[in-house]
Formats: sequence, C-alpha cells, structure tokens
Amino acid sequence: MKINSAVFERSSQKVSQIPSGGLPEFAFIGRSNVGKSSLINMLTCRPSLAKVSGTPGKTRLINHFLINDSWYLVDLPGYGYARVSKADRKGFSQLITGYIRNSPSLVFLFVLVDSRHEPQKIDLEFIEFLGENGIPFGIVFTKADKLGPAKVKTNVEAYGRKLLETWEELPPIFVTSSEKKQGREEILGYIEDCLADMRQEGQ
Ligand code: GTP
Ligand code: MG
Repeated sequence: MKINSAVFERSSQKVSQIPSGGLPEFAFIGRSNVGKSSLINMLTCRPSLAKVSGTPGKTRLINHFLINDSWYLVDLPGYGYARVSKADRKGFSQLITGYIRNSPSLVFLFVLVDSRHEPQKIDLEFIEFLGENGIPFGIVFTKADKLGPAKVKTNVEAYGRKLLETWEELPPIFVTSSEKKQGREEILGYIEDCLADMRQEGQ
C-alpha cells in the first residue's frame, strides 16, 4: 500500500476526545519502549511523525494519525511502566482499556513484543484481556535487527508455543525492524486487506 499522506490529527487524554468520524482505526500497543512510535514512523516513512525516545513512557496519550485521508494509525501509551491506576493491578491504564473496549472503529490491534525477550507475563495477560473482550489482534515482534535471523526464528516459534497453551490457533504474526524497515510491506498489506474486506462487506 502506498502512503500518500500521514498527518497527526489529535492527542486524546480521555476516550471521549477521540476523533469520532467513524474512520477505521489500526492501533499499536505494547510495553513501554518496545518500539510502537518507531514502527508508526517506519510504516509511514515519516521519521518524526510519532515521538520516539529511549526513555520509557514517552507516549502518554492516544495519538491519532490520519492516513491517506481515509483511516487512522493509532499510537497508544505503553503499558507496564507507569501504574496510572493503582486499582488496576495488571498495570494497563484505564485509558488503554477504555479505548480498547469503547472504540467501535477499532479494526485491529497490533500487539508489539520485543523479539529478544521470552514471553512476558504482562504481555500474555494483555493478550488474555483481548481474548476476553473479543478484540482482533496480531503480534508484532520488534527490533529484529538486534538479533540474528536464526535467533529471531527460535524466539518467534517459542512465543507461538506459549500462545498455543491457551489459544486454539495463532494470531497473525509479523517480524519487524524499524531500523531496517523490515516487515513494512507485511503490516501495510494486512491493513490493506482488512480495509478491502470492510469495503466489500459495506457494499
Ligand atoms: P513509549 O512511547 O515510551 O511507550 O515507547 P515506544 O514503544 O513508542 O518506543 P519508541 O518507538 O519510542 O522506541 C524506544 C527505543 O527503542 C528508541 O530508542 C528507539 O530508537 C528504539 N527502537 C525502536 N524500534 C527499534 C528497532 O526496530 N531497532 C532498534 N535497534 N531500535 C529500535
Ligand atoms: Mg511511543
């Protein structure tokens, strides 16, 4: 898919502030520092569209970026870093859970995990939360450039085995590096297919 335009539209502090035009939304979530903002910049080929930082917790708000005047990429705050709500023992902020539960335009959620690490409890709990709420999602392995391809493959396979302990089938899986622009065509192609399916269903 060609990205003709990518424009920052709004940062929302509350679910009620989210753009309500009904355009399809594809969101990116994961632990703080996993590479969500970098991935959005890589996908759009706009290196400074979303703010990137080596300090965890950079993205605190829900950021909507309007793509090709017809759909949104959504950069969500990282979880597992700042316990925004002490009442929420799993460390997902109310902003995140509120967005996921109350966004009729959310089409698909890309859950980012660092390809260097073993499955982390907080990510598995988050994936479980998505299952309980019936949210369509895929897993994006990030920073693949930091490992050799063989090690990436081993880690991705191990992750799949872990998921199959609780899931009947694996979700879509993407291996990416924002540094090397790896996985760009796969993710944009997936989004394009989702949009095409939606257009067909709407006819
Ligand atoms: P928060 O907004 O704090 O939740 O973080 P984030 O998930 O948006 O991460 P961000 O994109 O800001 O990246 C965090 C750090 O990881 C930065 O120093 C990036 O340069 C680095 N980084 C992100 N993606 C990659 C990648 O594919 N390869 C490498 N080598 N570094 C990456
Ligand atoms: Mg960020």
